[in-house]
Amino acid sequence: MLAMQKTKASIYDFPTYYDLVFGSDTAAEMRFLNKCFGRFVDGPVRRVFEPACGTGRLIYRMGRQGLEVGGIDLNEKAIAYCNKRLKRLGLKGRAQVGDMSDFSVRRPFDAAFNTINSFRHLLTEEMAVGHLESMARVVRPGGIYALGLHLTPTRGEATDEEGWSARRGQLSINTYMWPVEKNPRKRLERFGIRFDVYRPTSTMRIEDVLELRSYTSKQFERLLSAVSSWEVMEFYDFGYEVEHPIQLGATTEDVVAILKRRV
Ligand SMILES: C[S@@+](CC[C@H](N)C(=O)[O-])C[C@H]1O[C@@H](n2cnc3c(N)ncnc32)[C@H](O)[C@@H]1O
Repeated sequence: MLAMQKTKASIYDFPTYYDLVFGSDTAAEMRFLNKCFGRFVDGPVRRVFEPACGTGRLIYRMGRQGLEVGGIDLNEKAIAYCNKRLKRLGLKGRAQVGDMSDFSVRRPFDAAFNTINSFRHLLTEEMAVGHLESMARVVRPGGIYALGLHLTPTRGEATDEEGWSARRGQLSINTYMWPVEKNPRKRLERFGIRFDVYRPTSTMRIEDVLELRSYTSKQFERLLSAVSSWEVMEFYDFGYEVEHPIQLGATTEDVVAILKRRV
């Protein structure tokens, strides 16, 4: 039995582990996004962008479809990992280190996406509005931005404690995530997250705390209406079924908003 080495660190500083742990829904996300491009974007989609792209889990797959890609993320290690993969595969486009709450790009993109709660890393209303305004500079008129996050239900209980396993070759990781603090008044939620990493010759535990801003469906809708460059086309849930839009309500736990850049 190998002794487990324990470390407190940002999970985003371990791109290989991150990419494996958060990869389980990737095929469904890709299918959904591609269908949304076809359904909602005016004109062709040739260039796509992901704010908080991390390891490029999604954008490198978009690149393999022949699209030019772009992205931005705060974490230098994730961006280095992302760009190394884009380069190794000979794909068009690169990601950059930067803050998604206030940024711009040289040439607008046809579509953009941000699917698994990254947006909730923006802890204030100013940052959230700044992000939507930045994205209105990134996406051309007639293009879309698919923005996905968990909501806080105001009726019923949120299911926010979860564990799952992922394996690639001889690397296997058990992940566990649990709520540490919920402050609806400050709209701040803190979640503990733990990766238990198993390799044939070593085992390691990485522990981190994620701070996320909370949104009820009403708070989310109010935010969207505050930035006039975007029109809400549809809401979906994390079932990612483009034929089945949802209505937001008190019990909604997750949402992907399809925002269209007004002309
Ligand atoms: C849950 S990960 C998602 C990564 C990627 N979008 C994916 O789907 O695999 C959240 C990412 O948000 C990034 N992030 C957090 N705050 C950010 C900010 N203000 N600007 C840019 N990226 C940020 C983190 O570094 C991390 O890579």
